[in-house]
Amino acid sequence: MSFHTLAWKGDRLVLLDQTLLPGAEVYREYTDYRGVAEAISGMVVRGAPAIGVTAAFGIALAARELGRDGAEELCRRLEPVYETLLATRPTAVNLSWAVERMRRRAEGLVGRPGEEAIEALEVEALAILREDVAANRRLGRLGAELLPTRATVLTHCNAGALATAGYGTALGVVRAAVEAGKQIEVLADETRPLLQGARLTAWELLRDGIPVTLLTDNMAGYRLGRGGVDAVLVGADRIAGNGDVANKIGTYPLSVLAREHGVPFYVAAPLSTIDFSVEDGSRIPIEERSGLEVTHWAGVPVAPAGVSVWNPAFDVTPASNVSAIITEAGIARPPYRESLRLLAQASPAP
Ligand code: MRU
Repeated sequence: MSFHTLAWKGDRLVLLDQTLLPGAEVYREYTDYRGVAEAISGMVVRGAPAIGVTAAFGIALAARELGRDGAEELCRRLEPVYETLLATRPTAVNLSWAVERMRRRAEGLVGRPGEEAIEALEVEALAILREDVAANRRLGRLGAELLPTRATVLTHCNAGALATAGYGTALGVVRAAVEAGKQIEVLADETRPLLQGARLTAWELLRDGIPVTLLTDNMAGYRLGRGGVDAVLVGADRIAGNGDVANKIGTYPLSVLAREHGVPFYVAAPLSTIDFSVEDGSRIPIEERSGLEVTHWAGVPVAPAGVSVWNPAFDVTPASNVSAIITEAGIARPPYRESLRLLAQASPAP
């Protein structure tokens, strides 16, 4: 991969600033968890798995700052750190998944000296990073088998290397299919309001030499109706126990269109995106972001001053519209309450 979404340099975290893509490739360094939290809420880094991995390194950085007096004291001092990181973005469950995993690791170190706890938390964050890439590669290979040898795939938002520690989920499936010798063309929805499809998906696929055609969100229905699209393939921010899927706003209408036109609708996500504590999609918290993201582009108004705006960042696709959920442990098919549980049980917890 010719770029790094995030990289750990031993004493600092380096993030590719995604707010500046595709215009500029700028890497920013973070040595403090507060800066990391701002990077997540400001979407310097975004995409559910990438947010989780970044938060883990935020905790590793906080441990360096707060850990000198032993693990027990560190655990106490980390509580507000967890709160700060968890408050950044509510929908992607990978964030709380990673924070809880780091918390468990820290609590398991009680009684150990500070230096040991600091190192152990760094090692844990690195493990989360490595496991994310490995999960993406594995789910990519499994998902690639669902695609025909020549396939046109429609995707929404960015569920690629930029949204993960590397390789991607939905785009990981595309990459694995290409690596397996399949001819894949990607149709990338622009993804209003922040244009993750245009700015990020198109950028990273062009970087890899994978054919990509950009369309605005409102063109997807016409394109699906004309035929020749073999699959809709998206990522997820949180999957409820019943298989309902929260993903970037605009995913739900795409699932309705896919169903209408008989096109399979696949969701690719690691097991860390499944939240069994949430019964169904109606319980998933949906982030609402500033109306300025809708009324302005690059600081230029595109709507009259004073208009009221609703800007939910995600929507929920009902499980009934999802043909399959591709995970690193296997491919789940309806009914998801059973199939997702079986996959999670078959995969040993880290
Ligand atoms: O608001 P974003 O850019 O963080 O939203 C990202 C998405 O909706 C992705 O599709 C999702 O996180 C899956 S990323 C592998």
